[in-house]
Amino acid sequence: MGKILVTGGTGFIGSHTCVSLINAGYEIVVMDNLCNSKVESLARVSLITGKNPRFYKTDLNDYKEMCQIFEDHKIDAVIHFAGLKAVGESVKLPLTYYHNNISGTINLLKVMEKYGCHKFIFSSSATVYGENNPVPYTEDMPTSATNPYGYTKVMIEQILKDVCTSNSDWKVISLRYFNPIGAHESGLMGENPNGIPNNLVPYIAQVALGKLDKLHVFGNDYDTPDGTGVRDYIHVMDLAEGHVAALKYANSVNGFEAINLGTGKGSSVLDVVKAYEKACGKKIPLEIVARRPGDIAESYADATKASEVLNWKATYSLEKMCTDSWNFTKQNPKGL
Ligand code: NAD
Ligand code: UD1
Repeated sequence: MGKILVTGGTGFIGSHTCVSLINAGYEIVVMDNLCNSKVESLARVSLITGKNPRFYKTDLNDYKEMCQIFEDHKIDAVIHFAGLKAVGESVKLPLTYYHNNISGTINLLKVMEKYGCHKFIFSSSATVYGENNPVPYTEDMPTSATNPYGYTKVMIEQILKDVCTSNSDWKVISLRYFNPIGAHESGLMGENPNGIPNNLVPYIAQVALGKLDKLHVFGNDYDTPDGTGVRDYIHVMDLAEGHVAALKYANSVNGFEAINLGTGKGSSVLDVVKAYEKACGKKIPLEIVARRPGDIAESYADATKASEVLNWKATYSLEKMCTDSWNFTKQNPKGL
């Protein structure tokens, strides 16, 4: 069996997936340019698994160095996490986002074509369901976006479909993640955002630590049970296991397939606050403020396809996600 190349493997989801891949018996090679992560996360992977995967500090857009990885190893499949992911930043720096995410993916696909490697698992996002589809989201719904980050996901999915049409050797799975949170239960690995977090759970974690005063709840006048936004939070280790399941399934895929990775269950901002308070044993001070532009009321998956084709289901509760997030946060108050 050839090896699995994990791009963006020192990042949040990538590093957790490295643990699941190694535990499932795969031999992995990791590449990342470390623009949003530290190589320390691979040391943590080694600590947990007892294996030391080969690491390349390389940029996706560097054709020569990407070729070198394929020269050095027989790569059977690529799991492609590498990309920039901050929505607000993407509005300010659209060209940076399109160059990094889209050109970077095109470069990677060219290198894969050159070396005859055609199995590809892509990190897509629930953001491709846009603003107008009714929940729960099913994979056959039309895709759209509202910001450059979202467009990179929509466009890369289109590119992948076109590549599959051009050559029937390709086996491509686009995994549409809902809201990944939590951490490895050892507390050795977790989410490590730079600066003030944009996303709900990393923000709450900093409030629980005492580094931030209070949570700003973005609107309580949505058409949802308690008025706050509803999302499908999924434990990052469940998500990691979803990649192992997808890798197995990829052998029987012909062309392009999109698959949701979510729990199928929505939780409100206040549900998350309650679960986090229970996990950390502290009150999370909060203030209701205006809606965040671009936010939608509800987003959650129809998770039927993943259970049918991947034989995979999310298993961890919101309480466990918050317990593991807190465990990581208090063990690593300054991040990794
Ligand atoms: P992350 O930032 O922790 O990991 C991404 C990694 O890619 C980082 O380590 C970064 O250094 C690396 N990277 C970025 N550009 C690169 C380049 N040009 N060359 C080499 N490496 C590069 O983010 P994450 O949360 O682990 O997300 C992984 C993937 O999943 C991303 O594609 C993201 O868009 C997607 N995704 C994330 C979420 C989420 O909420 N975290 C949701 C849906 C989809
Ligand atoms: C984020 C990304 C989106 C990605 C999705 C899935 C942004 C703007 N969007 O969206 O592209 O596809 O994750 O991972 O980053 N909230 C607060 N206060 C806060 C932060 C968030 O009330 O300080 C609320 C939001 O209004 C929302 C919920 O918490 O209702 C979740 O927010 P967040 O964690 O940012 O995720 P998404 O908005 O789903």
